[in-house]
Amino acid sequence: MARPTYAEINLDAIIQNTRAVKKLIGGKKICAAVKADGYGHGAVAAAYAMCAGGADMLAVAMTEEAVQLRKAGIARPVILLSPAPREDIDTILDLGITACISDVPFAGELSAAAVRRGATARAQVNVDTGMGRVGFPCASAADAIMTIQQLPGLEIEGLFTHFACSEDVSVTAEQLRMFKYVTDRLKSAGMTLPLLHAANSAATLQMPDAHLQCVRPGLILYGLYPPGADASGVVLRPAMSLHSRVVFCKKVSAGTRLGYGHTFTTERDSLIATLPLGYHDGYLRQYSNRGEVLIKGKRAPVVGRVSMDQTLVDVTDVPQAGEGAEVVIYGRQGDSSIRVEEMAARLERIPYELTCAVAARVRRRYILNSTVVGETSSCSQDVPEGLRNYFPGSTINVPPPGGDGNFFPRSF
Ligand SMILES: Cc1ncc(COP(=O)(O)O)c(C=O)c1O
Repeated sequence: MARPTYAEINLDAIIQNTRAVKKLIGGKKICAAVKADGYGHGAVAAAYAMCAGGADMLAVAMTEEAVQLRKAGIARPVILLSPAPREDIDTILDLGITACISDVPFAGELSAAAVRRGATARAQVNVDTGMGRVGFPCASAADAIMTIQQLPGLEIEGLFTHFACSEDVSVTAEQLRMFKYVTDRLKSAGMTLPLLHAANSAATLQMPDAHLQCVRPGLILYGLYPPGADASGVVLRPAMSLHSRVVFCKKVSAGTRLGYGHTFTTERDSLIATLPLGYHDGYLRQYSNRGEVLIKGKRAPVVGRVSMDQTLVDVTDVPQAGEGAEVVIYGRQGDSSIRVEEMAARLERIPYELTCAVAARVRRRYILNSTVVGETSSCSQDVPEGLRNYFPGSTINVPPPGGDGNFFPRSF
């Protein structure tokens, strides 16, 4: 019998959100962020759904994540957002992955490897306009890009930057101005500009000037609102809901201490339910004495410390909340709902952290056309058998290693 804790991932919601974003940006391109296992939703399933909803490209943080998408048959351009280790160059070329260029020596090595196999490497150059992480500093970016452009066997497909305070329009406008400074210099040096992109979710929602030719959101495609951003332009549908069931329920008398550290003492005779969900599942320990879950459509408070595999909730005021009762941690039950954004604010965390925290051992149940189309097992994030068959337009068969990457069509 499977443990009754699972995350439901509604692929219809991801498709709808992607379409809504495409409409908001007037049909410009979308480079959809599916890094970090699709923000905890499952990268492959999320990528299938985003492609079905109109995403033109996919963005990941590391080569292994790009390989996972290619192995799942995804042919759209897959862009690395961070520099890869040199050892990854062969894989990058084999699978037509778009490398992130943040320094000239790496570009040189990528070019040399591509020339050796008679291929053309795909590259996007990262410009640091204020994030302070990877990327060429604005002052030297144009010269470096002109140098890289001369390298044989390497095509610069795009230039991008990343916003540090995208909820703050004035800081973001300044970063955009610096990006334009770099692109203007390149234009006046005679370069035909490749695809330009900058906007993450918050900038996609509230800064049309930052849309450029392509936006690069993650969070909003999963149906979550970025904290502090004006989201009036779009209605998003959360793709993830988190579910469990009461596995044990007992009456305790007033004055009973509960859980590790005895941080909670009942003030009345109480009914305490045990949920099979703990911090190893991504139900953060910070929820101790602070969280709430839905049972029978009512909010029940978390009591005592969240432990690794189990959490206690007080169901004294929830009629019929006995063993087997369904529990919603994030999502809707009856007329009530608990949004990830609400809990993130309560814990002083961000929504990203809460969905990313949902652990691999929590089964993902995928819904498409309101039907369950696949489910992972408790201890793996393998793609469910057959899910790919629902996305014939998003997939192709992957060629053997040693190719020039041109097998995967460019979409721009
Ligand atoms: C470089 C880069 N681009 C785009 C994104 C997408 O950001 P968001 O999920 O806020 O839309 C991220 C996310 O961290 C990122 O690091």
